[in-house]
Amino acid sequence: MSGHRLALAPMMERTDRHFRFLMRLVSRRTRLYSEMVVDRTLIHGDPPRHLDFHPAEHPVALQLGSADPRLAARAVAVTRPWGYDEVNLNVGCPSPRVQAGGFGVVLMRRPERVAEIVRAVHQETGVRMTVKHRVGLDEDDDYAFLARFVEVVAAAGVQVFVVHARKAWTEGLDPKANRTVPPLEHAKVYRLKRDFPELTIVTNGGVADPEEARAHLEHVDGVMVGRAMWDRPWRWASADRVLWGDARVPDRRTVLERYEAYLHERLAEGVPLRALVRPLFNLFKGEPGGRRWRRTLDAALRAGRPPAGGLAAQAPLEVGA
Ligand SMILES: Cc1cc2nc3c(=O)[nH]c(=O)nc-3n(C[C@H](O)[C@H](O)[C@H](O)COP(=O)(O)O)c2cc1C
Repeated sequence: MSGHRLALAPMMERTDRHFRFLMRLVSRRTRLYSEMVVDRTLIHGDPPRHLDFHPAEHPVALQLGSADPRLAARAVAVTRPWGYDEVNLNVGCPSPRVQAGGFGVVLMRRPERVAEIVRAVHQETGVRMTVKHRVGLDEDDDYAFLARFVEVVAAAGVQVFVVHARKAWTEGLDPKANRTVPPLEHAKVYRLKRDFPELTIVTNGGVADPEEARAHLEHVDGVMVGRAMWDRPWRWASADRVLWGDARVPDRRTVLERYEAYLHERLAEGVPLRALVRPLFNLFKGEPGGRRWRRTLDAALRAGRPPAGGLAAQAPLEVGA
């Protein structure tokens, strides 16, 4: 599978369809991952609520939480009419709730179970899942453990491995600390690429800007970025140029005008204003005018309507690219 050079990481409470749409305006090329959705939620819940997305979001991936081949296959079958470009299995999350469900990072200790899941999904739906995992967990943190996981799962037909380049502690650290305390080990991910050259290997963790991403691409096929895209979305406006050599980069006015049109379409469908404005808050963070922009958005939320005169009229348009 191609097209993993740069990806927006799956993030609960962050990468909903609205933030993904904004990132699509910032970069035409970046692959966008959804928040994790648990298998039973798709089977018993309200699929459109979790699955609807805008056609402009392609390439877009759905992330699934599952520890059960049968439920995973049923859940992926539910997603089929939506036309996601990829379904990714979460084998990286260490949260207590996820551990209690037997999925997320604890599945790294059960590569055969992961293999069963991806086989069942392929058999039932024709979808070849991808997997997002860590470099290890607890005391299971040597390279041999990681390589065996990849070997067993690849034998079940998985081609794309996204590796959060730090281990997780399943006890004693909360999920947030598990994203900062264990050190980054990108070298282990590079080694995976050397040992499994036929696989698509994507590294993830602590990548701050497109130039840093490009440096990783000397060693792996792709880079996934979470917090740095949420915290500084506009920093990625140069991504298509830096990573793909595109001549065209987005301009602020166009991005804001398009987002505004999108916002009005969703408002008309009954989406709350807050959900639509939220992705915009960090857009110009750290720049002159960034604070004033946030105050404008706060005022719009208090007033219960989009900023008067339009988003572009209120934004720091003159700064930077
Ligand atoms: C708020 C938040 C929510 C996250 N939710 C998920 C998730 O649902 N699934 C997942 O695989 N990883 C999740 N992650 C982990 C990220 O995908 C990523 O692996 C991690 O943040 C490291 O990348 P970064 O340093 O670029 O942020 C989450 C991270 C954050 C900050």
